This record gives sequence, C-alpha cells and structure tokens, in this order.
Amino acid sequence: MKETPNSKLQTPNPDYHVPVLYHETLAGLAIKPDGVYVDCTFGGGGHSKGILEQLNAKGKLVAFDQDADAQKNMPADDRIIFVPQNFRHLQRMLRLHKLSEVDGVLADLGVSSHQFDEGDRGFSIRFSGPLDMRMDRRQGSTATDVIRTYSEQQLHKLFEQYGEVTNSKTLAKHIVQERKHLQSATIEQFKAMISPVVKGNPNKYLAQVFQALRIEVNDEMGALKDMLQQVPAVLKKGGRITIITFHSIEDRVVKNFFRQGSVDPPPGNPFMSIPKKEIWKVITKKPVTAGEEELKRNSRSRSAKLRIAEKI
Ligand SMILES: C[S@@+](CC[C@H](N)C(=O)[O-])C[C@H]1O[C@@H](n2cnc3c(N)ncnc32)[C@H](O)[C@@H]1O
Repeated sequence: MKETPNSKLQTPNPDYHVPVLYHETLAGLAIKPDGVYVDCTFGGGGHSKGILEQLNAKGKLVAFDQDADAQKNMPADDRIIFVPQNFRHLQRMLRLHKLSEVDGVLADLGVSSHQFDEGDRGFSIRFSGPLDMRMDRRQGSTATDVIRTYSEQQLHKLFEQYGEVTNSKTLAKHIVQERKHLQSATIEQFKAMISPVVKGNPNKYLAQVFQALRIEVNDEMGALKDMLQQVPAVLKKGGRITIITFHSIEDRVVKNFFRQGSVDPPPGNPFMSIPKKEIWKVITKKPVTAGEEELKRNSRSRSAKLRIAEKI
C-alpha cells in the first residue's frame, strides 16, 4: 500500500460488507494518482479504500451513500468528501463541492450486507422487523406503505418486473384482498399474509418478493437512470465509469447506456432508429463476473456483473 502524508486508512469493516469484483473494478477505473473519483455507493468503504490507496496527496474521492449507517465507515482521510445523499443528485452535489469534472465514477448497486443483516431495516426475510426497506430513512415511503396503498395493477407490475415472481398477478390480487387485516406491518405478519399464495421454494419465492419491494421502495431504477444520464456531463474525456449490477433489468439499462448513450431500450421497430450518441468506448463487451475463488468466498458475488466504459 502506498502511504500518503494525509492518509490514515483503516481496514474497511468486513462485517459491514465485503466488496465484490474488487480488483476488476479498481483495474477498470484505471486510476490516475492525482485524479478526482466518485464512489456513488460507499457502503462499507471497501472499493473506496482501494481507490484511496492508488491516489496521491493531490487526489480526491467523493463518496455518496444515502444510508446514514455508512458514514460510520468513513476513514480519517482528508482526501475524501462524504456526501450523505442519493447519487441521483450527482451533478448538483459535485457542483456544491466546486468540482465540475471528475476522472472516474464507480457504482456498486443495491444494498450492503449490513443492511440485510440488520433486522430492524426490514430488508431480509430472515428476521422479523418492521416492513421498512428504505435505504434513506429520512424520507420516502416504506414497503408497508407500498403494500397498503398500491393498486392491484401496480403491485402486479412491480412483482413481475423487479422480482420475476411466477404468480405475480395472483400475489397482487391476494395482497389487495387481505391487506386490511394486516395489523402491525412486520415482516412476520406480511409473510403470514402471503403464505397461501407462495409457490415453489418458499425462501426463493420470498426473496424475489422482497427484492421487488426493495427496488420499488428505493426507486432504484429511477436513481440509476438519473445518475447515468448525468455522468457524461461530469466525466472528463478519457475518464472511466464502472458499474456493478445485481439484477438483469439494471444490467440491461447500463448495457444500453454504454452502447447507445441512452438509458431507454432500442426501439422495437427496426425501421425507426434513434440517432446513436457516440459517448462511450465500451471496455467490457461482455460483463465481468466473479471467478471461482470469489464465488466460493462470497456468495453475494453470484449475480454481480461489472461493466466498464471510457468517455470518448
Ligand atoms: C452494495 S453496497 C456498496 C458496497 C461498497 N462498494 C463497499 O465496498 O463496501 C451499496 C451501498 O450503496 C448505497 N446506495 C444504494 N443506492 C444508492 C443511491 N441511489 N444513492 C446513494 N447511495 C445508495 C446503499 O445504502 C449501500 O450502502
């Protein structure tokens, strides 16, 4: 590790989160020692620590995390600026810190192991806490609000799109019929309420239902699209963007964005073509996935896909 005069790097807390595709992501950023980098998803600070190790005293790291818990993992290092906000405010927050251009952007999407492991956050089917699921507890609707207020059609769509739940229509109908009996909105209560319609392996089914609710509660697709669309304006020519996704819909958005400069899918009609914006040189033609050793060590890496592009 390169020591710099102003760095007092601490080992990130592996109990909080173990970073996935660590070496591949850092290599993908092609870090310039005096560059300015953005980690959109600081979490346990694993990837951030790797970036700081490659920066010299002039380098800077801007780390976003909308979860107040992540701030506990901040190293005592005056090269890092912590932004306790949603990364969808990327450009505005950089401007606020008088940074108009950066050399690289990283996002490691989704939730951290810490968020899953804290029963009172409501993310995991293993505990019985409140059915919350907000990464940012300062605002927004909880999973309980979604369950209590969404129409049958909205619930159907989100379970189908974000969870690929096999009987999403039946599940949505069942929730709308039964939700008036949902007294305390705990994970236990919710699981009991939907138990008559659970199909196949209950753990797998519930994990899909919970994933769908989490993506909706945190507007994860909206935040990703908002952030991606701002990156070309803040990234220097030759700067790199590295994105790690854990869901096929997210990966598709990133792939489309790198290939055609737009977060929307290509038109279904082959005779109608959107003018292609030449913004990116795609570094990863296929997404990078975890190798055997990482898969054995960290089960979370199973669905991780890393895509890298360079601004031209
Ligand atoms: C998978 S973890 C990142 C782990 C991190 N790379 C590490 O090495 O420890 C994702 C983190 O990003 C945060 N996060 C997710 N979406 C966000 C968003 N839209 N804005 C800000 N933070 C977000 C979560 O709160 C969580 O702490």
